[in-house]
Amino acid sequence: KDIDKGTYPHFMLKEIEEQPFVLRNIIQKYMDENGELTIDKNILNSMNDTDRIYIIAAGSSYHAGLIGKQYIEKVSKVQVEVHISSEFAYNTPLLSERPFFIFISQSGETADSRSVLVNIKKLGYPSLTITNVPGSTLSRECDYTLLLHAGPEIAVASTKAYTAQVAVLAILAEVTARSKKIQVNFDLIQELSLVANTMEVLCNCKDTYVNIAQKFFSTTRNAFFIGRGMDYYVGLEGALKLKEISYIQAEGFAGGELKHGTIALIEEGTPIVALSTQEGINLSIRGNVKEVVARGANPCIISLKGLEQDGDTFTIPEVHEFLTPIVSVIPLQLISYYAALHRDCDVDKPRNLAKSVTVE
Ligand code: G6P
Repeated sequence: KDIDKGTYPHFMLKEIEEQPFVLRNIIQKYMDENGELTIDKNILNSMNDTDRIYIIAAGSSYHAGLIGKQYIEKVSKVQVEVHISSEFAYNTPLLSERPFFIFISQSGETADSRSVLVNIKKLGYPSLTITNVPGSTLSRECDYTLLLHAGPEIAVASTKAYTAQVAVLAILAEVTARSKKIQVNFDLIQELSLVANTMEVLCNCKDTYVNIAQKFFSTTRNAFFIGRGMDYYVGLEGALKLKEISYIQAEGFAGGELKHGTIALIEEGTPIVALSTQEGINLSIRGNVKEVVARGANPCIISLKGLEQDGDTFTIPEVHEFLTPIVSVIPLQLISYYAALHRDCDVDKPRNLAKSVTVE
């Protein structure tokens, strides 16, 4: 069936703006008749039986997996490893006694991920896919499926599927913890609902993103994204968005790694996007910003309300610290979008890229 972009100039903008609705839809779809979040019993059994989860994914889905690891380890207390699908065959880790595999894939068709699935099935290990496409190859071939309920994603650069993946991983972590009688000290439904409202606020700050895109990215050849902890992973996703659609050479780094190499690339005016949404890292990331500013960098600081300082470029309304990766990515998506428009790039169909890569 043909999907129409309606009055939107691009699918990417439409899909970015759909994010608050997708999140509310996810909350509904994962809620039972008592108003509690719920996950299929068989999946919970696998989550509880396993001694280690292996998350396998590519591209933006891999970035969502890195955040999922934090959620599952911190909330449900199960060990997690995250692997790039195309690397798994060569760098196969020593598997634990009772592995459980989670394949994260928007399309459910990525060949690199499927090839890992084929191999682990031969070994008899259980598997779950978190995908946007019911009936996709991964969904048919994995033992279990959790759907993203994001609606078709057409733009090559993933936006709403990424935030949906992170949200579903948060739900999986919370429901697993409850099933293990582990105390969860926040109400996930309520916090996710607040996140959806915040997403809406963030989608309505377009003028600011247009200005940021012009000020930082209109002529630059390269850009760096820094963060620590979960902000580092969001920085990886922000850098991927920017390079995919604007062709600016963009890299994400852990704040502390800068001084071990990348700082050599900082020149007068090099844009550095710094994320600060976690109280525990606020001071250290600001220390990193000072280091690069002293070498001429042009800092674009995106902080969470409560952690902001004078001179920050943009402040995100407060959400639960755990869920910031779902909201802090929105300014990055939209800044990339406007940077790409400004540079006359084909936003929905960037050169050399495919929506789903069905060859290894
Ligand atoms: C391609 C797309 C990316 C996507 C990646 C993984 O490279 O261009 O946007 O993140 O594949 O796709 P999947 O469907 O497995 O999530």
